[in-house]
Amino acid sequence: MRERLEELLNEARAEIEETGLKDALVGVKSKYLGRKGLLQGFFKELGALAVDERKRAGEFINTVKQSLETEIDSRLSAIHAEEQAERLKTEKLDVTLPGRARSLGSIHPVTRTLYEVQDIFASLGFGIAEGPEVEIDYYNFEALNIPRDHPARDMQDTFYINEEVLLRTHTSPVQIRVMEEHPPPLRIIAPGTVYRRDSDVTHTPMFHQVEGFMVDTNVTFSNLKGVLTHFLHSLFGDSIEVRFRPSFFPFTEPSAEVDIRCVICKGKSSTCRVCKGSGWLEVLGAGMIHPEVFKSVKYDPEKVSGFAFGLGIERIAMLKYGIDDIRLFFENDIRFLSQY
Ligand code: DAH
Repeated sequence: MRERLEELLNEARAEIEETGLKDALVGVKSKYLGRKGLLQGFFKELGALAVDERKRAGEFINTVKQSLETEIDSRLSAIHAEEQAERLKTEKLDVTLPGRARSLGSIHPVTRTLYEVQDIFASLGFGIAEGPEVEIDYYNFEALNIPRDHPARDMQDTFYINEEVLLRTHTSPVQIRVMEEHPPPLRIIAPGTVYRRDSDVTHTPMFHQVEGFMVDTNVTFSNLKGVLTHFLHSLFGDSIEVRFRPSFFPFTEPSAEVDIRCVICKGKSSTCRVCKGSGWLEVLGAGMIHPEVFKSVKYDPEKVSGFAFGLGIERIAMLKYGIDDIRLFFENDIRFLSQY
């Protein structure tokens, strides 16, 4: 028995030596030491031996068992250490590599300009209102005194969804929606997205407007001039020259267009590309709210008066930041946006 055990021990040692893999070694362990392993067979033979023989044989089997256990376990931890060393070598981190720079986001120039406009009017006590971008004909045109045959309703300019439903072409319909819901006095601005079938260096099919209006019992054209002059001075600097020019809008009477001195040539170049040599830049449409508009919201035009105005945010942003192509705002090119 002793000889057979020694033979077994040698075989096992050879196998332990040979196997370089953890899994295989675990297999070897259960082959010799497991509950149905080869050593177990020797323990079963003990019963057939004489008492003192049995004691010595038992002790010897145990010695074999223990040395096998120790040898397998130390081989296992050796393999483990080898694997660990290999991993450390291949997965090494180079902590001296420079980190990846994260780019910082910034506020879009259109949003930034909108915030500035809102802040100025907020400081004058104007509240903010919003209206739907998908609008009905009545609010976009009819209630604003724009008759059926007005060129603004032309299929060329307006995106129609069907005969009565369209994408709003301006933020003026918010005037009607607010006045329908609230009695005067009112001081409101209405920022938002508007849509027109138009596309070139100064027009995009979608752009942003801010509508504004003030209604009370005694609002005059001087109030209009005062508020809008203050607004333009806050936005472009106190020294900017402002000019009011007679104009026409169906929803205001009288109407005006408001110009500022050319921010590029200051009115000194007859060949300026931005003001086309006129020396002035148009920035606002405005006027005294038309009596027909008041009638459509059931206000009495004999009792109340008000002014209204509208401006394009992209246009203001282009002038403020000296941008000559409106499409740059919507291309989302990081090289452009990160300058602001
Ligand atoms: N709604 C006009 C447009 O989109 C802008 C405008 C002009 C609004 C005069 C007004 C106004 O309230 O009084 O061109």
